[in-house]
Amino acid sequence: MTALRLHTPLCDLLGCRYPIVQTAMGWVAGPALVAATTNAGGFGFLAGATIPADRIEADILEVKRLTGDAPFGLNFHMFQPNAQQLLDLAVKHRIRAVSYGRGPDKQVIGRLREAGIVCMPTVGALKHAQKAIEMGANVITIQGGEGGGHTGSIPTTVLLPQVVDAVKVPVVAAGGFYDGRGLVAALAFGAQGIAMGTRFLMTSDSGVPAATLDRYLQVKDADRIRVSPLVDGMPQRMIDNEYLAMLEQASPFKRVWIAVQSALQWKAQTGMTSAHAAKLLWQALREDPATVAQTVMAANAPVLLQRSMQEGKPAEGVMSSGQVAALIGRLQSCDEVIAGIVAQAGERLAALASMTAQETSHG
Ligand SMILES: Cc1cc2nc3c(=O)[nH]c(=O)nc-3n(C[C@H](O)[C@H](O)[C@H](O)COP(=O)(O)O)c2cc1C
Repeated sequence: MTALRLHTPLCDLLGCRYPIVQTAMGWVAGPALVAATTNAGGFGFLAGATIPADRIEADILEVKRLTGDAPFGLNFHMFQPNAQQLLDLAVKHRIRAVSYGRGPDKQVIGRLREAGIVCMPTVGALKHAQKAIEMGANVITIQGGEGGGHTGSIPTTVLLPQVVDAVKVPVVAAGGFYDGRGLVAALAFGAQGIAMGTRFLMTSDSGVPAATLDRYLQVKDADRIRVSPLVDGMPQRMIDNEYLAMLEQASPFKRVWIAVQSALQWKAQTGMTSAHAAKLLWQALREDPATVAQTVMAANAPVLLQRSMQEGKPAEGVMSSGQVAALIGRLQSCDEVIAGIVAQAGERLAALASMTAQETSHG
């Protein structure tokens, strides 16, 4: 039997075998997960927003060591205190691609593109895709509302064709993917590949503590993986747990108290100066006073995610997750996940081809 090639132009851009991307996930997408994905033929992104500044370069070198210098990606947020460090490291180490949300301007993207780096933001709405391309992005990842972490409200099946039809750059589909059927469907919509967070979190390579992974495996009802703005002021999809219930019942005063505690912890962990914190607040106040509360709450997301993803205390933190977690019943390695997706995509494509052939011969 010949192996299915499943090659799209995205594979050439990223330098990977299959059009399957492991997205960045705070405290989850470290060197081990990125290397396991990359070695299995996918393309992994290091979660640069939660890796301490004094470790990030060592982690980049670790991925290179574990993969024999294969291409991989780096995720960053413009508002993190060491954003400039990450940009410099991406150029210095010839990182193949960067992913980000809103933030970097034309100058920043221009510098990365000049260094040959693929600029691949994640967007949840068409207007954000168009704006990102205007700023210089050369690949767009769309994330449908069913996706994990910060997410929009438009489902993948609506957002994907809308963006594919409106832009000329390659589009990667994220939000709700976990198997070969999804890959074939995304390609049929016109995407050049799929990107997955939750599926890679729920692998034996993610390094997430067993107590937390057990909670993910227990969820069988996609309704229990819901969106709330209470963590950091922006809609975020997560597994309904004790901590979310507490936040929902907490008084506004208690929520502010939690946010201040998180902000202080994050400031200490990242070495953020008071001047940088004040600059972020001032910027928010100038651009849109309504976002000041969000700026104060911003540290809740990494601090509360760390409790479940690193400390193994799922009831005391946030369990960001896509709804697809309800469909994943067991942990596999990245190798098994990617091989399984490729095999199933092959079966589905063959079944579709034989359906079309029968139609033709009957017609
Ligand atoms: C635990 C978790 C942490 C995440 N952290 C980040 C992050 O640090 N940066 C980012 O750009 N996206 C982050 N995301 C979003 C994912 O990168 C990805 O876009 C999303 O999981 C895709 O949807 P899926 O979960 O249905 O595959 C996170 C998602 C999860 C589940």
